[in-house]
Amino acid sequence: MRRLLLIGALAVTATVWAAVGHSQEPSTGEQNPQPPAPRSFMNMTPEQRAALTRSFLGLAPPPDKAMVARGAPLFERNCAFCHGPHARGAEGPDLITSDEVLTDSRGEKLVPFLKVGRPAKGMPSFATMTDQQLTDIAEFLHQQVEDVANRGTYHLLNIVVGDPAKGRAYVNAHCMQCHAPQTFAHIAGKYRTPDRLQRGWIWPERYGYPSRAVTAVVTLPDGGAIRGTVMQVSDFRITLVDSAGQTHTIVRGPRVSVRMTDPLAAHEAILLHVRNDDMHNVTAYLETLK
Ligand code: HEC
Ligand code: HEC
Repeated sequence: MRRLLLIGALAVTATVWAAVGHSQEPSTGEQNPQPPAPRSFMNMTPEQRAALTRSFLGLAPPPDKAMVARGAPLFERNCAFCHGPHARGAEGPDLITSDEVLTDSRGEKLVPFLKVGRPAKGMPSFATMTDQQLTDIAEFLHQQVEDVANRGTYHLLNIVVGDPAKGRAYVNAHCMQCHAPQTFAHIAGKYRTPDRLQRGWIWPERYGYPSRAVTAVVTLPDGGAIRGTVMQVSDFRITLVDSAGQTHTIVRGPRVSVRMTDPLAAHEAILLHVRNDDMHNVTAYLETLK
């Protein structure tokens, strides 16, 4: 919470920096020459401004984008049901203001916490997930905090660093078997900012789009079948909502078979395998399609 209260201090940061810049001026003839300090906040590169704001606000290191990208679908599948799609809270608490999250760095506290959970209070244990998966989820949570808390730096960082021509070639080779040109016609306008565009094309939002929901057919020991949208699934049970809106929770015994269909399966593959330069090139290309 303390950190959130410091937010919006960009203007203060500018003043602080101006003062620091001043006090360093007399020491220019020093033995150990420092790189020349930028004159004012406004003349800094966006990256310098971001770093300064970050250290002034006492924020943790910037979230690792690749880990965040991997953590997003894991969060969606395992946590969003209770904590809301953006971790802002639902049945379970808001995680953006949670001390467990704010005092964590790269999962060192969250991973052990998630392995145990607080089952007595409704927070399950995630003992079967790997440390890497849980660390990716932790990083996704840090990105959510970042999006809310460090808005000043967030939109200044330029992620449009790729080559649009290469991005176009990549899209033609990898995306057009599923997408018509209309999908991309005004895509940059739809997502508004490059960071949303990048997240949106790598991992399209599922929440609010029934056509993107995971569905399953569960075959029961008596041969009957139940189909529906998957609400929750674990190694032990699956909860479905059928087309009549009725909820079914089925224990996954030895003679119960579950066949799931994920319309975004291709995007899960993109998410896990896309290379950084392809990612930047595609975003740069899509960003030209206003
Ligand atoms: C079935 C619902 C449910 C699911 C699924 C769930 N949580 Fe929770 N979670 C809760 C509840 C309820 C609490 C509050 C427990 C309490 O009161 O101490 C909680 C607490 C937490 C807290 C501690 C918050 C605090 O500051 O005390 C964190 C962090 C957390 N959950 C993260 C996660 C993550 C990450 C996942 C997915 C891997 C997840 N949860 C999945 C219900 C859930
Ligand atoms: C195997 C099929 C498949 C491939 C390959 C694929 N996608 Fe998708 N994509 C989908 C499906 C299915 C949806 C959800 C469509 C819906 O809800 O109508 C989707 C949704 C999207 C969306 C969200 C559209 C919107 O209007 O919000 C974007 C953007 C997108 N894909 C970009 C891409 C890009 C870029 C590539 C190539 C790097 C790609 N897709 C490759 C199947 C695919």
